[in-house]
Amino acid sequence: VDDPVCLADYERLAEERLEEPWLGYFAGGAGDERTMADNVEAFGRLRLRPRVLRDVGDVSTRVTTLGLDLALPVLVAPVAYQRRAHPDGEAATARATAAAGTAMCVSTLATATVEEVASAAPDATLLHQLYVFRDRGLTVELVERAVAAGCRAVVLTADLPVVGKRERELRGAWALPEQEVPAVAAARARGSAGHALSLFDPTVDWRYLEELSSSVDVPVLVKGVLTGEDAVLAAEHGAAGVVVSNHGGRQLDGVGATLDALPEVVEAAGDRLQVWLDGGVRRGSHVAAALALGASAVLVGRPAVWGLAAAGEEGVRGVLEILRDELETALALLGCRSPAELRRAHVAPA
Ligand SMILES: Cc1cc2nc3c(=O)[nH]c(=O)nc-3n(C[C@H](O)[C@H](O)[C@H](O)COP(=O)(O)O)c2cc1C
Repeated sequence: VDDPVCLADYERLAEERLEEPWLGYFAGGAGDERTMADNVEAFGRLRLRPRVLRDVGDVSTRVTTLGLDLALPVLVAPVAYQRRAHPDGEAATARATAAAGTAMCVSTLATATVEEVASAAPDATLLHQLYVFRDRGLTVELVERAVAAGCRAVVLTADLPVVGKRERELRGAWALPEQEVPAVAAARARGSAGHALSLFDPTVDWRYLEELSSSVDVPVLVKGVLTGEDAVLAAEHGAAGVVVSNHGGRQLDGVGATLDALPEVVEAAGDRLQVWLDGGVRRGSHVAAALALGASAVLVGRPAVWGLAAAGEEGVRGVLEILRDELETALALLGCRSPAELRRAHVAPA
């Protein structure tokens, strides 16, 4: 493909450019990869119900969620090790999200410091994804630095107390290049030993969320919520939002598709929480379906990596522009002038 017209075109370009073991790292999921596949397939199980003759001469894709004013309701999900997809790494992703008018969530395992990302992309809207280190002093320091660098929210990832069994990674028998990750280097410098992912604290519980949300001035979201029960707990312990996510099918294989979990989370959240979703979003019509079911925004993980691997900043921008254009077309064809007009009645089971 020379001129990608859809996200799958970018996926093919990325597969040509990425080499093992990194291709397996970015593309793979846990176990039999059932959940990873189901995230995408769930969108195919829904049918859209368009309304006609509704004056769609002027369609906007703009939304506001948790104080973020976004030109399109698609953020870039936290993805680790972006310099392994392209030498420009996180800085390129951040610049692309700024150009597209949306936001980027910077991973704890980024291959650049949050200050470097912020200064490489001064116009970018950044959020900070948090993995909680056993070294709580370091954790506090990382959150404070992220907020000082301008991050507009903290996204606490709750679905990685331990790492899922990712077989494409195991087959490669390779080690994560942790010296490229400033947060891990900082943990080492403070005396932490062991495998990079074992530096994270598996004892984190809802009390920690309460501590975190009362200690920062920006909204806190819990990423990795798949049940109404946990949405209620998130609201009770100070979260401003949740991300319905199964980590792109990289953690527990066999959990449901995020789109299937969305309605129960939306119902439990009521008007107390903003609900975002990630996993399997590959089309503007997928964005419309998630919003019709009550999400306020979605995030894309692998598609951003495909763009980055294919063409750096320009590639990520290309991915976001395709999603914006597809969403605009979907909204018009559903009879909606804006995402706010999407209703549950715009979707039905197949
Ligand atoms: C290569 C890769 C690395 C990821 N790294 C992180 C991470 O550091 N922190 C995190 O919270 N989620 C991480 N995720 C999960 C994503 O944020 C997101 O939940 C997932 O990719 C969404 O599914 P999608 O790839 O189908 O869009 C990662 C996902 C991938 C594919």
